[in-house]
Amino acid sequence: MSSIDHPVIDSSEAQAALKAAADSEGKSASEIDIDSMKVTQRWEKYSDEDHEVWSIIINKRMEQLEESASNVYLDGMRAINIRPDQVPRLSEVNELLAPLTGWSSHGVPGYLPAKSFFAFLAQRQFPTTIAVRPKTSMDYLPEPDIIHDVFGHVPLHADPIFAEFLQTYGRAALNTDDPVVTEQLARIFWFTVEFGLIQEDGRLKLYGSGLISSEGEGHHALESPEVDRRPFDIERVANTSFEIDHYQPILYVLDSFQQLRDSMNEFAGHLLAGGSSAAA
Ligand SMILES: [Fe+2]
Repeated sequence: MSSIDHPVIDSSEAQAALKAAADSEGKSASEIDIDSMKVTQRWEKYSDEDHEVWSIIINKRMEQLEESASNVYLDGMRAINIRPDQVPRLSEVNELLAPLTGWSSHGVPGYLPAKSFFAFLAQRQFPTTIAVRPKTSMDYLPEPDIIHDVFGHVPLHADPIFAEFLQTYGRAALNTDDPVVTEQLARIFWFTVEFGLIQEDGRLKLYGSGLISSEGEGHHALESPEVDRRPFDIERVANTSFEIDHYQPILYVLDSFQQLRDSMNEFAGHLLAGGSSAAA
């Protein structure tokens, strides 16, 4: 099922948003209109099964994450009141999130062209899928859903330091057209936002959404002797290629989110100053 076929999304609004997303390809940064790509979350259209799937996964995962997730993630989850009993309303999440960091989350009809995705981030807005995975594929879903996007990603947006990092990332990515740098930025996103680990209280903790939202991948990241866990170094990250569709063999470990923010500021500074590659 494509994510736009979900009853919470109005199909004509979704078609218009998809067209706007397709049309944004090739536009310059200042011409991209992110509002045209948003869809309304018709929250009352979530089925009992949607709420049940959310509850089963979140209840189970939270029990584990209390031990294994970064405190910054856990604090964020409480701050924006992500609850296990029902699929969150983005409007309610945003009411709590905006006063903390100015970030907000918005429904979109699926994948966006890269530049449009970056344009959202550059404005402290997070495009999110709003469909819920079906009960028949609770353990594995090839594409993001609201569990990956909101449960996995959004709690960190409540932290001012991570919030600054992610906006800087978006600005840098929006403003480069160099394919080598674009690839480096994709790697930075992958090894931090999606699959990042952090050292906290003398232990390894999870913060990347791909690790937060997947029990199997999260466990593998922390426990498997097969994983090469490297100290975070943004230039090394930018030059490490990644593979999808199986558990990650290489992960990078932050000392702190300050380290991530400061490294990104430096990387972006090189880019925005006109250098072709911070990692050359
Ligand atoms: Fe993600």
